[in-house]
Amino acid sequence: MTAVKKAEVIGSLNDFEEIKLSDKMFSKFAELMYNLAGVDLPLTPKNHALIRNRIVKLLRRHSLKSYEEYWDILEKGSPETVSEFISALTTNMTSFYRESNHFDFLLSVLPDMGKKFGSDLRLWCAAASTGQEPYTIAMTACEALGESPSSKVRILATDIDMQVLKKASVGTYEEREMQGLPPAQRQKYFEKVKSDGEEYWRAKDRIHDMIRFAPFNLMNPKYEFQHKFHVIFCRNVLIYFDEPTTKRVIENLVTCLAPGGYLILGHSESGNVKHPDLKPLSRAVYQKI
Ligand SMILES: C[S@@+](CC[C@H](N)C(=O)[O-])C[C@H]1O[C@@H](n2cnc3c(N)ncnc32)[C@H](O)[C@@H]1O
Repeated sequence: MTAVKKAEVIGSLNDFEEIKLSDKMFSKFAELMYNLAGVDLPLTPKNHALIRNRIVKLLRRHSLKSYEEYWDILEKGSPETVSEFISALTTNMTSFYRESNHFDFLLSVLPDMGKKFGSDLRLWCAAASTGQEPYTIAMTACEALGESPSSKVRILATDIDMQVLKKASVGTYEEREMQGLPPAQRQKYFEKVKSDGEEYWRAKDRIHDMIRFAPFNLMNPKYEFQHKFHVIFCRNVLIYFDEPTTKRVIENLVTCLAPGGYLILGHSESGNVKHPDLKPLSRAVYQKI
C-alpha cells in the first residue's frame, strides 16, 4: 500500500484563465453605471481594473463565461440584476467617527438647535453605506442632548446600494468593522451578540430606534420630502460624480434643507461647492442662509 496521497482536483482549468474585458464592454458598463447612479468611471487603467475585478465576481456567481454574456442578462433589466450590478460597482468604504471634526461640530450645535428649529429635529444621512455614519450621528445626538432630551432627533439613512443598506438596518458589526469607535462609546451604545459561534457587536435600541433606513438615489431629478431637514450629511459620495452631477445634487440638497440648517460634505469634496445659499462655516460644513 502506498502512503502517497493523490492531489485533489480543486477546479477546472477554466477557473484560472483570465476573462478578457474589452474596452467596448468596459464603456458599456461604465455608461450604464453613470446613467443609473451618476458614478463617473472614465476609461483609465484603474477603472478598467475596478470594473473587471468587481464584475468577474458576478460572472462566477452566475456561472457565466464572458462579460458579454453578463451584459445580455443585465440588458434585460430585472430589478435584482440591476441592483446587484449597482452594488458591485459602488465603493462602500466607511467607518465610525470618520472625519471626526464633523461630529464635534454636530455635538456643539445640537443643544441649541431645538430653540432654532423646534423640538422635532430631522437629520439625513444621504450616502449611509453600511451604517457606521448614521449610528455615529445617533450617538452624537445622545451625547449632545443627554438622557432626557428636550428635542426628538430622527435620522433618515439612505443609500442607492440595497446590500449595504440592509446591513446598516440590521446594525450588527464584526470586530474589524468597529474601527474608529472609542471603547466607552462601544460599551454604551453596542452590545455583544453571538451568531453561529462568532461574536458581533449590535447597536442598542437607543440608537437603532432613532434611524429609519430607506433606498434613495441621489440621481433622482427632484428630492421630494414632506419636511425640510435641519442637518444633511452627504459625505464621500460626490467624489464619484462629475461636475454637472455634483452641481445638480448640491442644488437638490439645498432645496430640502431648512434655512439655518447645515450641509456636511466629505473633506475632499468641499472644493466643488459654490452655491449662493450656502455659507461655509468650517471644513466641508455649510449653513443654508
Ligand atoms: C464611500 S461610501 C461613503 C459612506 C459614508 N458617507 C462615509 O463618508 O463614510 C459612498 C456611498 O455612496 C453610495 N452611493 C453611490 N452612488 C449613489 C447614488 N447615486 N445615490 C445614493 N448613494 C450613492 C454608495 O453606495 C456608498 O455606500
